[in-house]
Amino acid sequence: RIDINLKKTGDKVPATLYGVFFEEISGAGDGGLYAEMVRNRGFEEGTLPTGCTLDADGFAAAPTARCYSNDSINNFKVRWGADRGMTAWRTQYADGSQASSQITDEYPLNSATPHSLRIDLSRAHRDVSAVNTGYWGMAIEKGKTYRLSLYLRGEGARRCTASLVDAAGKSLASAQINIDSDGEWHKYDATFVADDSCDKASLSLSFPPEGTIWLDFVSLFPADTYRNRPNGLRRDIATTIEELKPAFIRWPGGCIVEGLTLDNRVNWKETIGDPVKRPGEYDLWGYRSTYGFGYHEFLQFCEDIGADGMFVCNAGMSCLFRNGDYVDGDDLEPLIQDALDAIEYAIGDTSTRWGAERARNGHPEPFPLRYVEVGNENVFGRYAVNYNRFHKAIKERYPQIELITALMFSKDVEKLDEVEIIDPHYYETADWFYNNADVYDKLPSRLPYKVYIGEYAATGRNNLYSSLAEAAFLTGVERNGDKVQLVSYAPLLQNAHYGKGHLIVYDGKQTYGRSNYHLLKAFAENRPDVNVNTVIRGEDTAVPFAPHGFIGLGTANASAEFRDIRIESGGKLVYSSERDGIDGRWSPLRGKWEFGADGTIIQTEASHESIIKLNDLTTGDCTIRLKAKKTDGRE
Ligand code: AHR
Repeated sequence: RIDINLKKTGDKVPATLYGVFFEEISGAGDGGLYAEMVRNRGFEEGTLPTGCTLDADGFAAAPTARCYSNDSINNFKVRWGADRGMTAWRTQYADGSQASSQITDEYPLNSATPHSLRIDLSRAHRDVSAVNTGYWGMAIEKGKTYRLSLYLRGEGARRCTASLVDAAGKSLASAQINIDSDGEWHKYDATFVADDSCDKASLSLSFPPEGTIWLDFVSLFPADTYRNRPNGLRRDIATTIEELKPAFIRWPGGCIVEGLTLDNRVNWKETIGDPVKRPGEYDLWGYRSTYGFGYHEFLQFCEDIGADGMFVCNAGMSCLFRNGDYVDGDDLEPLIQDALDAIEYAIGDTSTRWGAERARNGHPEPFPLRYVEVGNENVFGRYAVNYNRFHKAIKERYPQIELITALMFSKDVEKLDEVEIIDPHYYETADWFYNNADVYDKLPSRLPYKVYIGEYAATGRNNLYSSLAEAAFLTGVERNGDKVQLVSYAPLLQNAHYGKGHLIVYDGKQTYGRSNYHLLKAFAENRPDVNVNTVIRGEDTAVPFAPHGFIGLGTANASAEFRDIRIESGGKLVYSSERDGIDGRWSPLRGKWEFGADGTIIQTEASHESIIKLNDLTTGDCTIRLKAKKTDGRE
């Protein structure tokens, strides 16, 4: 029985509470939300991360920096193979054997995509195809329309056959392109309607053996992007996010805000405008990002789904675990200006420089940018000094912007001139989340700031148990709505190629939310307005079950400890954890019991599975009594 006292209300639960945190990690944008199907479209995968150099041993490495912390740093160093530029591409003859081609920068299409693929066709004496396998196979659907665009520079080459092909090379759709072979770059477009479906198709661009061809910025989109926008989002993934009803979206991260080096940080100005002029950047999560899902697309997505925008700017510090460089004094000014410009792009009127740029990009009205966070996880050293300068500059110009500091609960918060919202992150075990569901109950009722839990996730396997643990934690978050204003899970998106542990997982064809996605959705859809006082009274419950079965017991009630678990069968007490001296605190209830034919226990084991296994019990009736002791001592 649950008694609810509606006259005794507690904290309000803010409407802003549940949001999402986007970062280009695990194929979140490229090969994910961003609907581009061609991987390495500009042949820039071999381009070194900005700020890094190639050493004599073939490693891309970040320069040693003066480090903003005294802790040792783990400088970025990764083997940089020569074949990197051909990622997802191959050139072949009709029989599948390898044909020769080179990645070259001899005729840059523009400074953002200086490399291209050169094929000397007349030397080949046979048709040559450049084949792109997309993000681990392109999922093509029968009857669907796809739009291709590409840049070609021809000397003597005249024709290109563009096709979508299955693994056996069978064409699913094709188009002929006549090449202006005048030694200049030209853009070509084609539309495909697929005759058949294939989960692992490729794009093939085939050329007869005449002249030489240079190929660059090859792009393929499904026509039915989310809201049919050009350079748009994958409809299924965007809708899966939309269904979480997020009150805000955070962009662009995460560690990529900080960068391997300061030069490698996300520079939002390079993520807007014509995609062919966006240079992209090596992403510290191990692949090159096109930034096709750039600042404008992020703001547009916020508007489309009715979410507030949260932009995160670099605080003048690169990632401590990669390079740990920092800027201060006058060198910090350009970064402060970058943040001001980002705000102007989002909400400035069209008479301003960046407001006008937004209008040129197709959106004269302001976007719903509400929050700016200064830095990400820069919890050390000189952060407070830098933050204070950002705070002053932003608040003077845009007092309405809600500013978030990257500091968590720390003494350094006292060094901030003014603090509005702090950003603690929780990557902890599932048990931790269960046992700390009351962590915000224990804090003083009046904090000098609000809290944005920017990242949380139960580590280890993402399964029902960890989802319930996160859910238990969220009940504590809602209970403390006066303190916690915003919360977002991280990481949000994952291409199944990288694993299946994040909130939303997909391949080219399908998308699904994991169990914690569905719990989060249930929480967001049923967000309470206010906490009410409740008293819960437990009652005996008889649970009928069939012999040879399993019974799973679980609770998300992290404020109760189960002291005794009793199982009665045919009126006989067959098991009592208290009587049988099973050790441990049952908070939350966990355990696994297996019974022999006579009802005696043949095995007990503490586990996360919450399963009682009943072997050969002679009766189909069983009563399970759970004697619970609340943490306040009441039984
Ligand atoms: O979510 C992945 C990473 O974890 C984020 O980029 C970073 O902020 C955190 O440490």
